Amino acid sequence: MDRIRIVGGRPLNGTIPISGAKNATLPLMIAALLTEDTLILDNVPRLADVAQLQRILGNHGVDIMVGGKRSGDSEYHGQTVHISAARIVDTTAPYELVSKMRASFWVIAPLVARMGEARVSMPGGCAIGTRPVDLLIMALERLGVQIEIDAGYVIARATNGLKGGEIVFPKVTVGGTHTALMAAALANGTSVIENAAREPEIVDVADCLNKMGAKITGAGTPRIVVEGVTRLHGARHRVLPDRIETGTYAMAVAMAGGDVLLEGARPELLQAGLDVISRAGAEVAVTNAGVRVARNGAGLAPVEVTTAPFPGFPTDLQAQFMALMTRAGGNSRITETIFENRFMHVQELARLGARIHLDGQVAVVEGVEKLKGAPVMATDLRASVSLVIAALAAEGETMVNRVYHLDRGFERLEDKLGRCGAEIERISG
Ligand code: UD1
Repeated sequence: MDRIRIVGGRPLNGTIPISGAKNATLPLMIAALLTEDTLILDNVPRLADVAQLQRILGNHGVDIMVGGKRSGDSEYHGQTVHISAARIVDTTAPYELVSKMRASFWVIAPLVARMGEARVSMPGGCAIGTRPVDLLIMALERLGVQIEIDAGYVIARATNGLKGGEIVFPKVTVGGTHTALMAAALANGTSVIENAAREPEIVDVADCLNKMGAKITGAGTPRIVVEGVTRLHGARHRVLPDRIETGTYAMAVAMAGGDVLLEGARPELLQAGLDVISRAGAEVAVTNAGVRVARNGAGLAPVEVTTAPFPGFPTDLQAQFMALMTRAGGNSRITETIFENRFMHVQELARLGARIHLDGQVAVVEGVEKLKGAPVMATDLRASVSLVIAALAAEGETMVNRVYHLDRGFERLEDKLGRCGAEIERISG
């Protein structure tokens, strides 16, 4: 298993290109199941989760062609992927595949909408608390799908097609909103989704579905209206930049010091995150090329943060922000409201000398003068990268073990940081 070795204490200076968003790429690839034509996606990141979803879609009979490099392309440009679900040969998504990545459960919506049936294993994914699918199932039922649970599988049937309906989410769910959108796109009649997730990735998927012929309005607001159509066609769509990757590197610069351009980043996707970073003492400036983050000399200020659905502070940046706060001049409080048990990084940060006290969903981080390198273990995707951020400011060597979690969501992390002056290397094996 690969490890990442980091020697802390070097500032970061230069440019980090921001990749396409993982959390948009996955539902966009899944949306290709809705049409027999080809969907072309540009700016697709090279990630283990994307490769895993390719295998899952392949199992349904989907052809996926990853475009070759053209002259002038740098290895940092995203890939172009052609996805063709002309013939769906299998409507079962088996446990062996779905258990590796939670988002793959979302294939249930396009499969049942187009084929009238789907049999999808209950999901796995990050070990961050219970992550049920009851609201996804509720959304499908509201659109006329019959659901049966059998031996760990959700069996969805809509022999006479889906019917438009009203879906009111009792709690904001990204996966629930994606599921509702995809199913409603091919339903007979109009659907209304209330308390919809407003994440930029929802808007990106709705934009792409509209290019495919769907009739969706209101994406990005809590009320989305979908007028169902009988078929969708092919389209070409560019994946939006990854706001979580942007926030992660912004925090890395705030932690290590230096001056870095996050190339291609879109600040409006991450206002709450960038505000917090500047309150912590980093300079954040918006340029034509992206977002510039700098911290030279000044110490870090403690900031109180509570995670919330978009446009609030994202749970996917909570671990990284906690790493940053370990070096703040004072105590900061971090409250996690989205997922229970999403504090698994706390123990590992403590190995580097961090002082963090947990009380239920609240972490109080007592800033320390210095962190010291140590061997640590990556536990989930965002937790892993928080350890990298802490290591950048720790004295001496940190070895991050089990980095496969990082590869699920961060493209060439060691390259991107290394090019800006970090002492970081991947050790294979
Ligand atoms: C997505 C993101 C993930 C992010 C999360 C919250 C992708 C691929 N993943 O995950 O990175 O951390 O949004 O921003 O886009 N819930 C239920 N019942 C359900 C579904 C969800 O109770 O049927 C709960 C969850 O347990 C959680 C909350 O709703 O407490 C939000 O989850 P949700 O927004 O659905 O997260 P995901 O879509 O899985």
